[in-house]
Amino acid sequence: MAEKLRTLIVEIDPDTVRQVDILGRQTGAVDIRWRVPSVAEGADVVRKFHPDMAIVGVNGDPARVIGPLAKEFPRLYILALSAACDGDYVLQAMRAGAHDLISKPVREVDLRIAAEKAQRNRVRKDPGERRGKIVSVFSNKGGNGATTIASNLADALSCRHGKKVIVVDLVLAHGDVTMFFNVSPPHTILDLAKNADKSDPEFLHSLLARHSSGVYILADLPRIEDAENITAGQVREMLLALRSMFDVVIVDTPHQFDERTLTALEMSDTILLVTLLNLPALKNTQKSIELFCRLGFLDERVKLVLSRYLPNDEIPKESIEGIMNCPVFFAVPNDYPTVLSSINRGKLLSEIAPDKEVTLAFRKMAELLAGPATVTAAPPPKKRGFLEKVLRPERSVS
Ligand SMILES: Nc1ncnc2c1ncn2[C@@H]1O[C@H](COP(=O)(O)OP(=O)(O)OP(=O)(O)O)[C@@H](O)[C@H]1O
Ligand SMILES: [Mg+2]
Repeated sequence: MAEKLRTLIVEIDPDTVRQVDILGRQTGAVDIRWRVPSVAEGADVVRKFHPDMAIVGVNGDPARVIGPLAKEFPRLYILALSAACDGDYVLQAMRAGAHDLISKPVREVDLRIAAEKAQRNRVRKDPGERRGKIVSVFSNKGGNGATTIASNLADALSCRHGKKVIVVDLVLAHGDVTMFFNVSPPHTILDLAKNADKSDPEFLHSLLARHSSGVYILADLPRIEDAENITAGQVREMLLALRSMFDVVIVDTPHQFDERTLTALEMSDTILLVTLLNLPALKNTQKSIELFCRLGFLDERVKLVLSRYLPNDEIPKESIEGIMNCPVFFAVPNDYPTVLSSINRGKLLSEIAPDKEVTLAFRKMAELLAGPATVTAAPPPKKRGFLEKVLRPERSVS
């Protein structure tokens, strides 16, 4: 029998919620897990828990209620619930983004048929388990810019592509991802390692921090010595669990090839191999490429990324592709003052310098990995001139 649909209901009337809950149980196919009265709260639930279906009560114009959910979550299966169900209204609801509509008061047979349709849609969309992409950011020398890339790429994928993204700090003893995002989560990777087999996404989510960009963070260990307690097997379990909960799992990896790092690299859909255009860095990168080759990793999954790139560098970018036997996938421009200020302030590049070349580069990198952006950036606030400020002071909202 197919797994029950983990369902969110957005409905203001408690009696309707209760009725749908009971009928859902009777069908054996619908598990109402989240009940909220507003679309804004519904959107929060979807961002956090990725339900299989949202039953959305509609009163009035469907575009107003369904539109925002359908736009932000194109993968979400939306079942509209409405007292009105004439042909015109159904058409409006479908145009707003609903997949199906059932009328109030709900009948068991209608909910059952709707659930079967949602189930078929799930199977078509996602044969087997839900599977996000794992992107590891690796460099076998410190200070090349791996964490800068992991954090800002995650931000671009979340904000510009609407992806549900997590950054995993696998630099267990000396990680700094939490500093880049300026978060201090109460739980760490040790908690997840111990619990990854309890594959209840709600519980696993409670171990993660969420940054205002929407990016989730799995923090490094508070104590250096705890690193010994995390095994390669646990890394595997964690990544499997996270892959089923997120669209993109970005792993900031340590610079050493231990078994845990190799497990993450082996499970990755993409390995961003970060290097600099200087001889020591290139020599070390060459060694990594040779190892990837021996391990059978060296295919289109491995993408060479030049960090802190200056176009007039002594070593031309083009010359290294032949030497390395690996094309340059991307070059992140060098902008030391901006990147350092972003790190020291615990702010992402998009927060402190949205228009700088280095920030735009991460948007570009996200597009190369995920296709065109789906979320347009909000226009920058209009600057108010001196006269306007004096003559038309902004009204404060009380
Ligand atoms: N695009 C860039 N332009 C200029 N400087 C950069 C850039 N990216 C990173 N840096 C600088 O390089 C330094 C190291 O960056 P980062 O911490 O991201 O590297 P890392 O490879 O994760 O290092 P670690 O070995 O400490 O984990 C930082 O001081 C940062 O300011
Ligand atoms: Mg780092």
